[in-house]
Amino acid sequence: MPTNSAETLLLFGATGDLAQRMLLPSLYGLDADGLLPPALRIVATARSEMDTDGFRAAANEALKRFVDADYLKEDAVARFLGRLTYVVVDASDISQYGKLSEAVGSTAKGLAIFLSTAPSLFKATIAGLQQAGLAGDNVRLALEKPLGTDLPSSRDINDAVAAVFPEERTFRIDHYLGKETVQNLLALRFGNALFEPLWNASHIDHVQITVAETVGLEGRVGFYDGTGALRDMVQNHMLQLLALVAMEPPNEFSATEVRDEKVKVLRALRRIDGASVEANSVTGQYQAGAIDGAGVPAYADELGQPSGTETFVALKAHVDNWRWKGVPFYLRTGKRLPQRQSMIVIQFKPVPHSIFASKGAALKANKLIINLQPQENIRLLTMAKQPGLDRQGIRLREVPLDLGMANAFADTRRRIAYERLLLDLIEGDPTLFVRRDEVEAQWEWIDAIRTGWAAKSVSPKSYAAGTWGPNAAIALTERDGVSWHE
Ligand code: BG6
Repeated sequence: MPTNSAETLLLFGATGDLAQRMLLPSLYGLDADGLLPPALRIVATARSEMDTDGFRAAANEALKRFVDADYLKEDAVARFLGRLTYVVVDASDISQYGKLSEAVGSTAKGLAIFLSTAPSLFKATIAGLQQAGLAGDNVRLALEKPLGTDLPSSRDINDAVAAVFPEERTFRIDHYLGKETVQNLLALRFGNALFEPLWNASHIDHVQITVAETVGLEGRVGFYDGTGALRDMVQNHMLQLLALVAMEPPNEFSATEVRDEKVKVLRALRRIDGASVEANSVTGQYQAGAIDGAGVPAYADELGQPSGTETFVALKAHVDNWRWKGVPFYLRTGKRLPQRQSMIVIQFKPVPHSIFASKGAALKANKLIINLQPQENIRLLTMAKQPGLDRQGIRLREVPLDLGMANAFADTRRRIAYERLLLDLIEGDPTLFVRRDEVEAQWEWIDAIRTGWAAKSVSPKSYAAGTWGPNAAIALTERDGVSWHE
């Protein structure tokens, strides 16, 4: 174990959805593999009235629901449940934090705190932690999104955090950074000599980033309708993906170096504002339709009222620097699209001159497709000669060079993104967490788009659930002679 591993994890929002679905299963997974510090205690807290036995029983149920049955071993489950203590705390009531400091005890051996609560509670929680002596040098704090709803509110949260926790002890979560395939982007770019010389405007025509989901509102009525796809997905996950694709090589894989390079990209994003928002963005909201053959209702029907919230957004972005001069980055994300699929497509430029043109053969430019989920693979589409004697002219066909991660690493268990992030938090490595300057650069760019939408009274266009968004999203790329990769 690293020397600065925390010996206590304090989990706020412990009875919430994220804790049940992701955090407890992730902690169990780490424990079952012997990766948690042996003495680690997990102090869980929330408002629900129950005692430690009640919480352990609830945690056990969560494991049964959300962990693969063949991975649940009786002794490992018992050991994990034995680490849990539960304390009832109303995080908004500062007088209740004494109970927490009693349960946590000394922070001398390191305390990691995870706030999986509504952001409206962040300020009160931080004040409570400070007052209870749970914010000293050996304490680090992780915060779940959303970190604000715009730049001013994000600054407000960041200021409140910074007043008590210095930046190096603040761990802002973007769970996409915990995904193995997202980290693999760095390995692909900087662990191979092959791609980097071509990774620029001289050789790349454009980049596409798609994060498509089939799910709809999923009961998150209050949150999602006040948020929309731009703030829910683009502000964080998609801009982080874009930054990893576009950044310069960091000097080393370390928190400062990696984040220094990402923030430069985020700051170089060309502003999309009132003057350019109509040409560079499309928003949509799903109507009734079908996914996998099953009918699904319209967004407004799921919500129970009409709404102007976008459930789909497509953008044409530019990174204004030497490397990416003139290269569009097309981004799109949405709910109720035909399939769950996250991918990055790097479209290379065509060869400068085709020696096969006189023989009637058409060439397609190379394309690198990085599938992040649900499949994990990397495919490089290359031209190959179709076997034959070529009496009617030479025929070439696009053939993929395939790197199937599932086959290459068949014996490695795929971990939940939160396993990586929780372990890094416990051990104190902030590389895969988002720094304040990144979050704020992300908000600045997003706010300009939203202000532009308001100025131009942009409202979401309809699309049928189970389709790839409104037609205008197709027109956004087709105008440039580009088709979305599907
Ligand atoms: C969350 C969004 O941050 O990411 C959700 O709030 C979205 O709306 C989710 O469904 C997608 O995450 P994943 O890991 O399923 O791609």
